[in-house]
Amino acid sequence: MKIYEDQRFFLNCDLNSMQNFQTDQQKKLPQPPLEKPITNPDKLIDLPVPEDLVNPGKDFFDIINQRRSRRKYTAEAIDLEHLSFLLWCTQGVKKIFDRTGNKISLRTVPSAGARHAFETYLAVLHVEGLEQGIYRYCPLEHQLEFLHTADDLPQKIVDACMEQDFVRDSSVVFFWTAIPYRCEWRYAFMAAKLILLDAGHVCQNLYLSAEALSLGACGIAAYAQVKSNELLKVDGENEMVVYIASVGKL
Ligand SMILES: Cc1cc2nc3c(=O)[nH]c(=O)nc-3n(C[C@H](O)[C@H](O)[C@H](O)COP(=O)(O)O)c2cc1C
Repeated sequence: MKIYEDQRFFLNCDLNSMQNFQTDQQKKLPQPPLEKPITNPDKLIDLPVPEDLVNPGKDFFDIINQRRSRRKYTAEAIDLEHLSFLLWCTQGVKKIFDRTGNKISLRTVPSAGARHAFETYLAVLHVEGLEQGIYRYCPLEHQLEFLHTADDLPQKIVDACMEQDFVRDSSVVFFWTAIPYRCEWRYAFMAAKLILLDAGHVCQNLYLSAEALSLGACGIAAYAQVKSNELLKVDGENEMVVYIASVGKL
């Protein structure tokens, strides 16, 4: 079937596949911005800065060894400081520099060509000091932007996660969207493969940072694409959900 051929083509493609293809970067088209613009500057929430985040002090071997996908949560609130730690571990910016006129961000996770094509949205249910609703992490500022509320948010999250009811008792659900053009600008049709490789690193850091805080996390790929896009109000064309993970108290 054609669709499987396409899939295998994308999995097989490498930089050689692009030899006769001029990318937008090679055409000298402008680099896409590192993050989405802030649309509600009056709705920004400062997060505890990474330098002040408490080092949970757990042994690295124990964190790796104890990591599991955890789905039983108590529906209690997590601290804003802990949420800040999880955000910083998954997308935190450590350095920004200029390379031949283009801005590069180095973060706590690796990314092919430092493209960092993700945005992080949070469906907040129980976090100290935050009202329930949908937020976006602004990694360059290390702030949260409150975006909107949703009626019966817990049920909407369950619906987005294809009726996986355990997410109802989570404290916060991470939704990672991809903005494909950030990666396509340099890697053209290799972008899909690279974005999904990058996504694994991001969620693994969530698993490990949650474990370090004795919180539970579970990666979720069995999600409803349209409902998830709609919950975040992303268009599904220039930006779409690629991975979800729940986090909660154990
Ligand atoms: C890409 C990916 C998607 C997953 N999707 C789901 C999911 O939708 N629902 C779920 O309960 N667990 C999901 N999981 C968790 C796996 O079921 C889990 O990693 C696996 O059973 C191994 O268990 P462990 O993570 O505790 O080692 C997902 C894990 C990955 C890596």
